Amino acid sequence: MKKIILTADRPTGKLHVGHYIGSLKARVELQNSGEFDELYVMIADSQALTDNAGNVQKVRDHILEVALDYLACGLDPEKTCIFIQSEIPALTEMTFYYMNLVTLSRLKRNPTVKEEIKLRGFEESVPVGFLTYPISQAADITAFNANIVPVGEDQLPVIEQAREIVKTFNNLYGETLVLPEAVVPKQKSQARLVGIDGKGKMSKSLGNCIYLSDDEQTIKQKIMSMYTDPDHIKVSDPGKVEGNVVFAYLDAFIKPDSFEKYLPEYKNLEELKAHYRRGGLGDVKIKLFLNNILQEILKPIREKREKLAQNPEKIYEILFKGSEKANLVANKTMEKIKSAMGINYRKDFANKK
Ligand code: TRP
Repeated sequence: MKKIILTADRPTGKLHVGHYIGSLKARVELQNSGEFDELYVMIADSQALTDNAGNVQKVRDHILEVALDYLACGLDPEKTCIFIQSEIPALTEMTFYYMNLVTLSRLKRNPTVKEEIKLRGFEESVPVGFLTYPISQAADITAFNANIVPVGEDQLPVIEQAREIVKTFNNLYGETLVLPEAVVPKQKSQARLVGIDGKGKMSKSLGNCIYLSDDEQTIKQKIMSMYTDPDHIKVSDPGKVEGNVVFAYLDAFIKPDSFEKYLPEYKNLEELKAHYRRGGLGDVKIKLFLNNILQEILKPIREKREKLAQNPEKIYEILFKGSEKANLVANKTMEKIKSAMGINYRKDFANKK
């Protein structure tokens, strides 16, 4: 079976190290492994607008920022089709037909959407577009015949809804759409990176992020201010590793040679954790260790990003070229959908002539 992969990000903020370790890094590795047939990465500006109607400028500005983050991390437009959602009209058209395959009560029950509505304080004033974004996401996926959709765990109910739409469509109109499968990050420590304050997932709205574009000083400051164990006051005190943000990050970002390079007196993370638990290991030491590891990862990304940012026209060119390619595929699927539904009047008429 062909391996067609599609994933996307909403352009509402710059990407941070949570995005990097939870998905970007794996995308680039997958891209470079060549083990796929088609790879699409979409900047979901239309979806971002479903809860940002009054904030178009923010969404607009972040299309470039997200694209810079992608390219700086190593996404290569020669191998990956990177494109902008709103550039693909067929997605909107598909969404309109898929809307007839989903009930209002089913939409309201979607746990992801429910949670997001609560988080945004929408209550009864939720925009219709926001409530229905899982339908438009089903269009994003099916337009490209994607069978593999890498997402965060919180998106699983949205992919489940897309699967339901595919099944309903195929039942009603005949086998047309490809059934997608969600893929979530394997390593728990990388799947849901906590923010530097330890209060929840790293997220722009909580102000607890380390961005891929942060400079060296900012990264260090953020690491030095990380939440650790409030009861670990003196170096000699025993410390807690669970809930300690520095250790959560070490779990996620450690590399096989990190100790040898930056902390040779320990063999591995287990040894370091044991020492911390026992007492006698200070927070500054583990923070500086983490700082070395993160700086090593982020420096080349930041430098590449700065270079790319000098030429925004070139970035848009890449996105428009990707969008053209994406349009060819999506338009073909749209034709298939219309034929299956029996609303491809022009084609039917031409065939009868
Ligand atoms: N909803 C996704 C998120 O917030 C972004 C997204 C839009 C997406 N369209 C998609 C993800 C299609 C996977 C496939 O992260």
